Amino acid sequence: MIEIRNVGKVFNIGGHQLHALKNISIEIASGEFSGFIGPSGSGKTTLLNLIGALDKPTTGRIKLMDRQLETFSPREAAAIRAKDIGFIFQSYYLLPHYSVFENVEYPLLLLKEPREQRSEAVRKALEWVGLADRASSRPSQLSGGQSQRVAIARAMVKQPKLVLADEPTANLDKENSNIILDVMEQLNRDLGTTFIFSTHDEKVIRRLRRVITLEDGQVQNEATG
Ligand SMILES: Nc1ncnc2c1ncn2[C@@H]1O[C@H](COP(=O)(O)OP(=O)(O)OP(=O)(O)O)[C@@H](O)[C@H]1O
Ligand SMILES: [Mg+2]
Repeated sequence: MIEIRNVGKVFNIGGHQLHALKNISIEIASGEFSGFIGPSGSGKTTLLNLIGALDKPTTGRIKLMDRQLETFSPREAAAIRAKDIGFIFQSYYLLPHYSVFENVEYPLLLLKEPREQRSEAVRKALEWVGLADRASSRPSQLSGGQSQRVAIARAMVKQPKLVLADEPTANLDKENSNIILDVMEQLNRDLGTTFIFSTHDEKVIRRLRRVITLEDGQVQNEATG
C-alpha cells in the first residue's frame, strides 16, 4: 500500500536547515496495524504527514496506493486525502463553530454523500467512540479526551482505506484508550483498514503488530509481533 524510498525532509528554520528525516525506506502493506515510536522530535509526525500527502519530501519518493505522491498537485493531494485517508492529529483541529455531529459529518460532506447515509454513518461513528449523547455539543464544551474521541470518529466515519493516527490516545484515560483501540482493531479486522500510529503510549504499542522505531530522523530498528 505504501512504499517509502530514501525519503529525506529538511525544514528551513531561521536560515539553518533541520534534517527531520534522513534517508528513510519503509514498505507498509495493506491491512497492517503498525506504528512509529521514538523520542520526541525523532520525526514521527513529519513522516505521517508525508504519508498522508499533507507535505512533500525534500528528497526520495513515496508511493501510496500506486500513486507517486511527490508528483501530486495540492488539488490531487486533497482528493486522495478526502477519499482514502482518515487523519487523527496530535492536536485535534476540530471546527469550533460546528457541533460534534457536524464535525464528524464534515468528511462525508466533502464526499457529497446523501444526507441519510451521512446521518447514519455519523451516528455509528459517535457510538464507536462513546459520544452518541454529545452530538449537539460544541468542541469548547468538551474535555480534551472527548475532543480526541470526536477527532477519531471524524477520521473513521468514511471508513477510509488508511487511518493515520498521531498520538491518538495522548489525552485519553486507560478505559477510553482501550475502547478506542478495540474499535480500531475491529475496523482493521473487519474492513481491512490499514492503521499507522505514532505513539509513546504502552497501551497502543502492546497492540501494534509492527513497531518501527525512529531516532533522529532515521529508522533505528523494527519489531513485529
Ligand atoms: N513545520 C516545521 N518547521 C520546522 N521544523 C519542523 C516542522 N515540523 C517539524 N519540525 C522539526 O522536525 C523534527 C521532527 O519533528 P516531529 O514533529 O516529526 O517529531 P515527533 O517525532 O512527532 O515528536 P513528538 O513525539 O514530540 O510528537 C523536530 O526537530 C521538529 O522541531
Ligand atoms: Mg509528533
